[in-house]
Amino acid sequence: MKKFFIIANWKLNGSKKMIANFFKHLKFHSSTYLKKNTIIIAPPTIYLERVYKNINNMNIMLGAQNIDINLQGAFTGENSVLMLQDIGVKYVIVGHSERRLLHYETDDIIAKKFHLIKKFNLIPILCIGETEIDKKNGQTQTIIKKQLNSIFKKLGKSAFKNTIIAYEPIWAIGTGLSANPEDVQCIHKFIKSYIEKYDLINAEDITVQYGGSINHCNAKKFIEQPDINGFLIGNSSLSSEEFLKIIRIAHDIT
Ligand code: 13P
Repeated sequence: MKKFFIIANWKLNGSKKMIANFFKHLKFHSSTYLKKNTIIIAPPTIYLERVYKNINNMNIMLGAQNIDINLQGAFTGENSVLMLQDIGVKYVIVGHSERRLLHYETDDIIAKKFHLIKKFNLIPILCIGETEIDKKNGQTQTIIKKQLNSIFKKLGKSAFKNTIIAYEPIWAIGTGLSANPEDVQCIHKFIKSYIEKYDLINAEDITVQYGGSINHCNAKKFIEQPDINGFLIGNSSLSSEEFLKIIRIAHDIT
């Protein structure tokens, strides 16, 4: 039996009304399905406290989508890891491809953020993955190694203890074209063996999630793969009905 992590990344979506309806539905239908696996919701920062109040006694954890590289000071518009910790956040997504591509976050910035998240005892969810061109050029493993190496360079040999890795091939995000579950299994196996080579952690203690167009129709085949330990879900996490369907499928298989 494997423990599965299901994380909702709401990205720049949500409203007070959406949150009220989402949790009304979840509370009514879900109590038995939330116990077995770890469910995390990462709303936009402005809604973190609202979601926190809603998940009280629900076996759901609070996640954030980003932090600044600074802890406090004159950094207009930013949020620090200390503030997120202060309001009950336990997990922080870092290195999402949308931040790498649209906000120009380099491997170095991501490693700094990853380090801060760990330093303050929160759990980083490190997103890695290749573009469509990388894939066509057979560069998937090279890209993944580079992304992992920058974390090793900053944190050393215990870098990946108490962390989650989310393999998200960029071409599969928000496209409706998920990757092939068997291919993802091979890549997750590669990620685990690469980390095990340089880190003190054992492969079986490494959590690697998949993200990219997951929905209730394709979830089962991914969950059945031995080295897929969870999902990072965008679009399908915005509807409580769809999100709960995926949670139920994972509940029945794991
Ligand atoms: P989609 O599930 O919408 O493809 O998004 C995946 C993702 O980017 C989660 O972080």
